[in-house]
Amino acid sequence: MARTRFMTLERHIIEGERKHPGATGELSALLSDLAIAAKVISLEVNKAGLVDILGFTGNQNVHGESVKKLDIFAHDVLIRAMDHGGHLCVMASEEEEDIIHIPPKHRLGKYVLLFDPLDGSSNIDANVSIGTIFSIYKRISPDGTPGILDDCLQPGLKIEAAGYIVYGSSTVLTYTTGHGHGVHVFTLDPSIGEFLLSHENIEIPEKGKIYSINEGNYKYWHPGLKKFIKYLQEEDKASSRPYSSRYIGSMVADVHRTLLYGGIFMYPADSRSPNGKLRLMYECAPTAFLIEEAGGRAIDGKRNILDIIPSSLHQRTPVFMGSKVDVDMVEHFLSHENHTNVEKEIF
Ligand code: AHG
Ligand code: MN
Ligand code: MN
Repeated sequence: MARTRFMTLERHIIEGERKHPGATGELSALLSDLAIAAKVISLEVNKAGLVDILGFTGNQNVHGESVKKLDIFAHDVLIRAMDHGGHLCVMASEEEEDIIHIPPKHRLGKYVLLFDPLDGSSNIDANVSIGTIFSIYKRISPDGTPGILDDCLQPGLKIEAAGYIVYGSSTVLTYTTGHGHGVHVFTLDPSIGEFLLSHENIEIPEKGKIYSINEGNYKYWHPGLKKFIKYLQEEDKASSRPYSSRYIGSMVADVHRTLLYGGIFMYPADSRSPNGKLRLMYECAPTAFLIEEAGGRAIDGKRNILDIIPSSLHQRTPVFMGSKVDVDMVEHFLSHENHTNVEKEIF
């Protein structure tokens, strides 16, 4: 990958805004506010292990505040950072049952923000990469009124901007505003507190040699999926098989690796979870938007993730996303076995 220019996230966003005729700067301000929230969460995430070691856990920390679970902390930081900028009419979080209204004292804007404040929570105590996933839509209800549920239940195709932050060995922010403007990755330089451009206009390899899935669920899978995984494990140099298996268990980290290296990330439906585990609005639609903008594909087994019309805030969906050739292959294996629809076949 060519060396990138010295570019901060803020400058990149503003330059990107100039490519959108009629841009008002609101989306840029939103993305910049999100980056500030990401820095605050990153600080806390990196301290979390230390907090345990220093024994500050328990009900009180040194400041007499209750020690919040990291995902509730991230949820609170995002709301506090985003609710007064005047750019949003409503928010929704994976950690909150209902939509989150903008306090009446703040100006209402034309955008909607959805987020998974902390993805990969089960990995926190093991110091494994975790992250935040977000997507931004334009409101569909009348300007100047409080946002409503319908503003939050839009298909992924309507996304205006999407991205994620991975809190790992370094803190990395990936975002896109779609429409061919590309997917870009920034790495936080903690010494200056700036996200600096590290990968510009990422294109996912057309075909990979890594597959990512929780194989512990093998016995519950669709027969076609079992055949697909066995196919990937056969030896055939021409098609880079056997593929390597990589599964971190934090979607945001598995998707980031897939975006950079290629291959396929999967969380399928199975006989115990007919709609899979991952949430359409908070995890699958935003990451599908990024993967497709980078030249990959994202399906639920039959349909494009971005075409799915949501019916509820927390609905789950099976997901297969990554390099186009690999997703085409799994689609074939699923439909090949598929004289009826996937659910009927499995259950
Ligand atoms: P979250 O922590 O936001 O609930 O997300 C966890 C998700 C996702 O990050 C990951 O891909 C998946 O859970 C892993 O699930 P399994 O442990 O069942 O494989
Ligand atoms: Mn998640
Ligand atoms: Mn989460």
